[in-house]
Amino acid sequence: MTDATETSPPEPSHEHPEAESPQLHTESHDPAVPEAYAAFMRTGWGERELDLPELSLVPYAAARRARLAEAFPGERLVLPAGTFKVRAHDTDYRFRPDTAHTYFCGNQTSDAVLVLEGGEAVLYARPRSSRDTDEFFRDRQYGELWAGRRPSLSEISSSLGLEVRHLDDLEGALGGPGKTRVHRGIDPRVDTLVAGDDSRDDDLARVLSELRLVKDDWEVAQLQEACDITTLGFEDCVGEWDRVVEHGERWLEGTFFRRARTMGNDLGYDSIVAGGRHATTLHWIDNDGPITPGELVLLDMGVEGRHLYTADVTRTLPVSGRFSPLQRELYELVLTAQQAGIEAVRPGVPFLAAHHAAMAVLAHGLEGMGLLPVTAEEALDPSSKVYARWTLHGTSHMLGMDVHDCGRASLDVYPRGDLAAGMVLTVEPGLYFQEDDLLVPEELRGIGIRIEDDILVTPDGSQNLSAALPRTSGAVEEWMARLQG
Ligand code: GLY
Ligand code: MN
Repeated sequence: MTDATETSPPEPSHEHPEAESPQLHTESHDPAVPEAYAAFMRTGWGERELDLPELSLVPYAAARRARLAEAFPGERLVLPAGTFKVRAHDTDYRFRPDTAHTYFCGNQTSDAVLVLEGGEAVLYARPRSSRDTDEFFRDRQYGELWAGRRPSLSEISSSLGLEVRHLDDLEGALGGPGKTRVHRGIDPRVDTLVAGDDSRDDDLARVLSELRLVKDDWEVAQLQEACDITTLGFEDCVGEWDRVVEHGERWLEGTFFRRARTMGNDLGYDSIVAGGRHATTLHWIDNDGPITPGELVLLDMGVEGRHLYTADVTRTLPVSGRFSPLQRELYELVLTAQQAGIEAVRPGVPFLAAHHAAMAVLAHGLEGMGLLPVTAEEALDPSSKVYARWTLHGTSHMLGMDVHDCGRASLDVYPRGDLAAGMVLTVEPGLYFQEDDLLVPEELRGIGIRIEDDILVTPDGSQNLSAALPRTSGAVEEWMARLQG
C-alpha cells in the first residue's frame, strides 16, 4: 500500500439527486437523530487521508481485459464485485470481492461493477459518503464514520488506471442497445438489471475461468508470496507447540489466522486443523478437538495475500515430534505418491497425470498392505477404483485467487485438458482410514495423512512454490525440533 499524496473530498450529492435521501442501513437500537444534530453533523469537516492500492497490477489488468474483449467482440460484459453477505442479522462477513471482477480491474471495493464495451472499460463504483446527507454518520454499511473512508471515484480511477463513474449511472449504461452478458450470481442487484440468458452468461463464466488458467508473472509472484507467508504461519504454529497441546486445534487455527491477517488479506479458505481421527474428515473445519501426543495432526492451511491470491498447503505432523514406525511407513507412502505426482507435472501432459501417478503409488501400497480385495492393477482400472475407499479425493486442483481456481472452465479444458506453462496446481494425495472402517486393521483406524504443495508448471517441468516447508519425515522432525528450540 502506498500513501495517497492527494486527498479528495466526499462526492457532492447534488450530482446524484438519489443520494439526497439514501436508504440508510440503521438498526432499531440506534439513537434518535434530531434535526439539530443532523444539521450540525453536516458542517465543519476537512480532508481525510487514505491509503491507495499499489499500481503494479494496472498493465496486467489492462492486458487481461484486452484478452476478454477479444473473446466477445462487440458485446457488453458486466462483471460485478459483489456486495455484503449477512453473517447474523445486521452483521456481515468481511467483504471479499469476486475473483473475476478483481482479476480484470484490480478493484476491491464493494458493490462496484466493471463494464467492458467496445474495448473500453468503465468501473461503476460507490463513491465516498457525501457530507450532505445522514449516510456518513448513520449508515452502518456504507457510512464513513461506521465502515471507514471509501476511496473517491477519482482516487479509484487514478489507482486502477480506469474510467470510474458513479454506481447510480450503471442502470442507464446497461439499458443501451447491444448484446449484454452478466457474470451472474455475484450481485443480486446487477442480476435483476439485465434479463438473463443462461447459456450466454454461462459462456461468459466459462471464459472468465479459462482466461485465468495460465498465470502471468505478476500472479506467480503473488502466489509465491502467499506460499511464503503460509510457511511463516506453519512455523508460528510449530513454535507454539506447548500451547497447541494445551489448547488443541483451536490454538492452531488462531495462530495461523494471526499470520494470515498480519501479512496477507485473510485465509484463502477455512483452515483444516485435524488432530488424530479428525484427519480422516477431508474438510474438517470445526477445529475444536484436542491435539494429543502420539497422534498425528493434519494442517491444511493457506494465506490469501493482499491481492487475493491464495496458497493451499497441507502438512501432517507427529504431535510428539517423532513419527511412530507405523506413522512413518504410511507417511512415506503418501510422500512417495506425492513425489510421483509432482514429477508428472510438466507442460503438454494431461492435468490428470499427477493424479494417475499418485494413485498408482497408493494403490500398490494398499495392495502391499493386504487391504485391496483385488490386485492394484485391477483396482486402478477406471471401472473399479476400489482403492479410492482410502484415498477419497482427486490429487490436484488449479490454484490462484480462488483456492479451487478456474472452476467454471469447460471440462474438456480443465480437468480433462493438458497442462501448460504458467498454470499452478496443487498435488495433494492422501490416505484416510476411518475410525469405523472394519476392513482395515485396528491400528490403522483413525489415521489420516495428506501432503500438499503448490506446483507451478514451468516451460521445462515444474517448480514447487511451497518447497520451503519440509516434506520428508526426517526433515519434518528436524524442522519441528528446531522451531521448538
Ligand atoms: N484445501 C482444501 C482443498 O483443497 O479442498
Ligand atoms: Mn487443496
